[in-house]
Amino acid sequence: MSARKRMIVTGVSSGIGRAIAAEALRLGWYVEGIGRNAPTELIEHSHGSFTICDLSDRVALKKLSLSTPQSYDLTVLVNNAGTLGPVKLAKKASWSEIDHCITLNTSSAMLLSAKFLSEVVGEKQLYFTGSGAAEFAIEGWSAYCASKAAVHMYASVLAKEHPEFKIHAFRPGKVNTPMQAEIRATAEEDFPGVGHFVEEFESGNLVLPETVATTLLHVINLEEKIPVIFSISNYSR
Ligand SMILES: NC(=O)c1ccc[n+]([C@@H]2O[C@H](COP(=O)([O-])OP(=O)(O)OC[C@H]3O[C@@H](n4cnc5c(N)ncnc54)[C@H](OP(=O)(O)O)[C@@H]3O)[C@@H](O)[C@H]2O)c1
Repeated sequence: MSARKRMIVTGVSSGIGRAIAAEALRLGWYVEGIGRNAPTELIEHSHGSFTICDLSDRVALKKLSLSTPQSYDLTVLVNNAGTLGPVKLAKKASWSEIDHCITLNTSSAMLLSAKFLSEVVGEKQLYFTGSGAAEFAIEGWSAYCASKAAVHMYASVLAKEHPEFKIHAFRPGKVNTPMQAEIRATAEEDFPGVGHFVEEFESGNLVLPETVATTLLHVINLEEKIPVIFSISNYSR
């Protein structure tokens, strides 16, 4: 009998999350998407399912259950849903903009991970879509940089608390997704570095979401120990 593997991914409607869900389905995993919108290829697949949840809504998040009556050989959670948040000088960001960005990118990933660790039985691995912006200060991205820095540190703490599981945050690189299009559409007065992102896109230097997905699935299978925070580019083949 083939291995029964379960993948839970947040933010599967586009970009990196959609590619991860598609790659896991292709490899025969049971894939559960969580988010506001689902791609048809997931909900129409016999191994796919989707739970509607606005992850910035604490009440909705609290109601989610990750336990299942079936048992799996391995369950993986990828906390991937995210927002760029307010792109403007920090002094101009409002409470609600900051709160939404930190709640979605950081707090919801922390709460879902806590649920995952306490509700899911058996072998498991936990991943966070982190960012180079967690370690590199970008003018205009104060909430995003802070939210991802917190995610990296949270992953590092969890990895220490649970040495029995693989727990990682990964830096995907600049990936060709709707979030990159949103970045390129920002005004230079709000984001002085926008020109570099336009150049990277026009030079064809963006990473494909499919590359992130295949690399993540490769890392999940790796037996060797790798850093808690790693770059996708170091493991892509
Ligand atoms: N693209 C890059 O270069 C890059 C670089 C570093 C890190 N990242 C990270 O990669 C992750 C995925 O981003 P992406 O680049 O693939 O961009 P994307 O295509 O915009 O994907 C973002 C995903 O998050 C979901 N989402 C947004 N708000 C949500 C909410 N309130 N509740 C539930 N789901 C929500 C979106 O779905 P709906 O809008 O349908 O709800 C979408 O599926 C993010 O954490 C991002 O910070 C991206």
